[in-house]
Amino acid sequence: MKESNAITIYDRIGGEAALKQLVVSFYAKVQKQPLIAPLFPENIEPVSDKQFLFLSQFFGGPSLYSDLYGHPMMRARHMPFPITSEHADAWLKCMSEALAEINIDEFLQAAILERLKGTAYHFINTPNGKDVTLG
Ligand code: HEM
Repeated sequence: MKESNAITIYDRIGGEAALKQLVVSFYAKVQKQPLIAPLFPENIEPVSDKQFLFLSQFFGGPSLYSDLYGHPMMRARHMPFPITSEHADAWLKCMSEALAEINIDEFLQAAILERLKGTAYHFINTPNGKDVTLG
């Protein structure tokens, strides 16, 4: 449910179809990113599906994730994984490349990355140098 009639990021990127393209492009990059790829399961589809549901609401579209899974508690959900600022930067770089790949307007790309940066940095739970990358 939308909170207002303001045009949301969800609308501006092109709604459901664009968001689905974005997550597919993003996880293809994540799976090739040496630092963060090992944190993810080989079968990326369930993660990609959940990310679609989450970003839908995060960008102001339908609250698909919460409707299915309740309160996101995203930082808590990331606690099992050691996330340093280097992991956050690698995640953001994959997202930046995915946004460019699906041809999102450059101004909008920058606005989206700025929003995601705050969230990604909020998930940092491990100091640099203390990383024990999971197999
Ligand atoms: C900071 C760097 C990040 C790393 C290294 C990271 C890593 C991960 C990992 C390893 C998983 C679990 C995969 C599995 O199910 O086994 C996950 C799940 C998820 N991440 Fe991240 N993540 C990061 C940032 C973010 C950000 C910024 C967002 C959202 C804006 C996000 C949204 C999600 C969602 C929605 C899931 C699925 C949660 C669920 O299982 O219900 N992540 N992430």
